[in-house]
Amino acid sequence: MIKFKQVSKTYKNGQIVALSDIDFEISQGEFISIVGKSGAGKSTLLSLITLEERPDTGEILIEGQNIAQVRANEAFYLRRKIGVVYQDIKLLPARTAAENVAFAMEVGGVENAVIERDVPKILDLVGLKDKAGAFPNELSGGEKQRIAIARALAHKPVLLIADEPTGNLDDGNAWDILQLLLKINQFGTTVLLATHAADIVDRIKRRVVTLDGGKIVHDKQNSKYVI
Ligand SMILES: Nc1ncnc2c1ncn2[C@@H]1O[C@H](COP(=O)(O)OP(=O)(O)O)[C@@H](O)[C@H]1O
Ligand SMILES: [Mg+2]
Repeated sequence: MIKFKQVSKTYKNGQIVALSDIDFEISQGEFISIVGKSGAGKSTLLSLITLEERPDTGEILIEGQNIAQVRANEAFYLRRKIGVVYQDIKLLPARTAAENVAFAMEVGGVENAVIERDVPKILDLVGLKDKAGAFPNELSGGEKQRIAIARALAHKPVLLIADEPTGNLDDGNAWDILQLLLKINQFGTTVLLATHAADIVDRIKRRVVTLDGGKIVHDKQNSKYVI
């Protein structure tokens, strides 16, 4: 589904090497935890997949297409296959939970009838049907992150990228969010999770990819947390 071939990425005209010689493949349906110390290159890796950043060298293939060569309109199409969730949850404060999800669909050009049909389903999936009418300031941190996940799922992505989604949550809420990500994965969406949460990674025991200084130093299925 996604293939990195000898990918390197630097910042500041080459002064900061964020990733070097990354060879890595993601198959459809996988659940991968990307771990490593702060500054190891986790977010950079994710930003290359979302096309927010471009590699300096190497190739990134998304469904066989080299993203270095995609034009703006194709990039828009590729991005629509990906949902993204961050540690900082930025919901629209003047809109309800349901409206936040609906808004993402409107922006994506989804028809109103489909929005009306799908928003309740997505809220149900994330366990927040009863909070449809709540405003963000009436939701807990964990509930806000669930809405952010619902919003990321609005355009039915094939890949969900979560960059430290539990970074601001307590252990209980963090585990609940992980269970939600596992459920989404069970429904067929590939999940790529960057995290510091060793306890969670140990508990889920899926594929773990460790970055250290911009290089992959560990990549194993059914793995514990290794940094
Ligand atoms: N936009 C940027 N400009 C300059 N340096 C950056 C930028 N983003 C990340 N870096 C640097 O690249 C390296 C990798 O960062 P990052 O991918 O954010 O790591 P992680 O997510 O694992 O903490 C770090 O040295 C970081 O300071
Ligand atoms: Mg990061």
